[in-house]
Amino acid sequence: SADGPRICGMPLKYVSLVTLAVQNAALSIVMHYSRVSTPPALSYSPASAVLLNELLKGSISFLIALSRVREVVETPWHRKSLWGIVCALPYPGTKPFWSLCGEIFSPDCWKLSIPALLYVVQNSLQFVAISNLPVASFQVTYQMKILTTAAFSVALLRKRLSSTKWLSLFFLAIGVGIVQIQTSGGSGHTGPKHTTVGSAHDFHVHVMNPMKGFGAVTAACFTSGLAGVYFEMVLKNSRADLWVRNVQLSLFSLIPALLPILYGQKPANSQGFLLDLFRNFGGWAWATVGIQVFGGLVTAIVIKYSDNILKGFATSLSIVLSFLASVFLFDFRITLSFIIGASTVLSATWMYNQPAGKEPIITLTRQTE
Ligand code: C5P
Repeated sequence: SADGPRICGMPLKYVSLVTLAVQNAALSIVMHYSRVSTPPALSYSPASAVLLNELLKGSISFLIALSRVREVVETPWHRKSLWGIVCALPYPGTKPFWSLCGEIFSPDCWKLSIPALLYVVQNSLQFVAISNLPVASFQVTYQMKILTTAAFSVALLRKRLSSTKWLSLFFLAIGVGIVQIQTSGGSGHTGPKHTTVGSAHDFHVHVMNPMKGFGAVTAACFTSGLAGVYFEMVLKNSRADLWVRNVQLSLFSLIPALLPILYGQKPANSQGFLLDLFRNFGGWAWATVGIQVFGGLVTAIVIKYSDNILKGFATSLSIVLSFLASVFLFDFRITLSFIIGASTVLSATWMYNQPAGKEPIITLTRQTE
């Protein structure tokens, strides 16, 4: 059909967008709780979470790619890299596994190293941001990635934006600014904030540093924009399968994800690589990684069956969801400036997503028949 493949009778395109919105809201809430609910000495290492995320996402993408290997366009022999040829040699082109290895280690796989590095940096920055900001403020400020995505699309993909889109980007920046002022204290106070979390047994105070949080979100918006546009460029300039690209992305991510674990600060009473990796890795940490892995896979489907613009719309819907959840879960107080800022961000996102031609036109036309 025109809407592409269907799942339970509904177009995959819309199912994946709604799923992404719910996933986004769930991730920011679960991730925030997983960071603030335990004292720093008992919390898990974000570097481990980033590594596990890539390992799991890469493995699942590999299995999906393997199941689709017949659909994957066979790379001609002369275009296979040396490693690809070596992998395929024992079973020349017959066994799906080796044929897939040939696809994965294709000569142009290095192109994924750039978005891979950027996504690892982004996923690490997300942990810094979510630990230092209220969930709702994090979500609203993270919408600035629409701005960076647009800027990189114009610079790298030579996309042209209508004046309505530029205007909506301007409103987006204003809205984010309003939310930032209220989160930082309103009267210029930008010092650490305290959240009291935990039950009567493990009562502790989590100190948040909004300035640090906003710095991390801003940097994450830049890597998100650049990585997204770069990934789009690699996908559109080749015929390689999306899941093969995802495996390549995860493989290259392993290098920057492993570095901080191998060369970072080791715990005082080190118990060896694997035990250190999973230290304090409780249910909330696993839930965070699980939702991240799921999100990465849904993002890939959204990019394939919808587009980046609709993805922006889905994530802005998640603001409302996580905002409502924050009110119930974290005692988030609704202030007038939050409502004004968040509404401005949502209106700007809606305005940005208006298809060309449906934009409000101010010229007067006379009907002639
Ligand atoms: O915020 P943004 O949409 O840029 O986040 C994208 C997220 O999805 C990142 O966490 C990234 O690791 C993940 N991703 C993925 N596979 C892709 C594209 C993005 O796992 N093909």
